[in-house]
Amino acid sequence: MKVTVVGAGNVGATCADVLAYREIANEVVLVDIKEGFAEGKALDIWQKAPINLYDTRTVGVTNDYSRTANSDVVVITSGLPRKPGMTRDDLISTNAGIVQSVTENVIKYSPDAIIIVVSNPLDVMTYAAHVTSKLPRTKVIGMAGILDTARYRAFLAEELNVSPKDIQAVLMGGHGDTMVPLPRYTTVGGIPVTELISEEKLNAIVERTKNGGGELVKLMGTSAWYAPGSAAAQMVEAIVRDQRRVFPVCIKLEGEYGIDGVYLGVPVILGKNGVERVIELQLNDDEKQLLETSRGHVKEVMDALDNINAAAKA
Ligand code: NAI
Ligand code: 2OP
Repeated sequence: MKVTVVGAGNVGATCADVLAYREIANEVVLVDIKEGFAEGKALDIWQKAPINLYDTRTVGVTNDYSRTANSDVVVITSGLPRKPGMTRDDLISTNAGIVQSVTENVIKYSPDAIIIVVSNPLDVMTYAAHVTSKLPRTKVIGMAGILDTARYRAFLAEELNVSPKDIQAVLMGGHGDTMVPLPRYTTVGGIPVTELISEEKLNAIVERTKNGGGELVKLMGTSAWYAPGSAAAQMVEAIVRDQRRVFPVCIKLEGEYGIDGVYLGVPVILGKNGVERVIELQLNDDEKQLLETSRGHVKEVMDALDNINAAAKA
């Protein structure tokens, strides 16, 4: 299996490293626009192979997409990250230009690839890549839900003093402050979380999860990479090993949850064809309302991108 990661920055290099040391692919090609950057990161990962004992080949290139030809999966992480005071949506025009041109190059050399978008604002960049690629919606998907759910699970594990391995959760909606954590579907070793924690503490954890990305931007001056890179690699693994994992993934909704034409995170089965099935949960009225708010926000940013693209054409 061949996997390309575009963007050799914090998230892209972390993703490539996880793909390599966990031998998720035979070959990982890292691409960046900055001369020598991807080559250096790929060489460093390759030189770690004799220490950590893996044989995945890692190759870096500067903007040479011919080297990415026939990739099975492509992860797009190229674009600006958030700085303190910025929202993910502030990145829209710069990152849309990058994601659209990268997708054109990717598709030229790997027309059958499954594309995983990571660049922000995530849901709208998934829209940009999907429209540009002209691929079926099941093959152009976004990574955010695994990360947001992981943050929620990590906070719960800390509060309950249990292993994060035993916390199962699902979260829906856009990647941003309007995301929709679903405590009703959260379990700890099969026990509903609501039996183990007070409502007040659970609400505080839900709020902290919604602001989880911002918390790290404040601490580090840029956005996170270990968990995001690992989350993208976990999606790649589910696809290349046809694991049929159940993950929250961003995809264009076509009638599911009563929503049409908006890109949102929903639980799906992820396997060799990309999204094998979108799972529709029976949401209660409060959850439906939260999802509607999230839909409205993502749609606004999608419309903003449409306006930017129309102005560029005029
Ligand atoms: P970074 O600045 O460390 O890396 C971005 C890389 O993209 C840089 O090396 C840059 O040279 C490269 N790049 C820019 N234009 C390019 C082009 N046209 N072709 C190829 N490479 C290009 O940023 P970081 O921290 O890796 O974040 C990357 C993106 O991922 C950001 O947009 C960030 O907001 C997003 N992100 C999304 C998350 C999610 O949950 N979906 C989580 C964390 C970050
Ligand atoms: C994150 O949630 C900024 O989207 C990025 O860490």
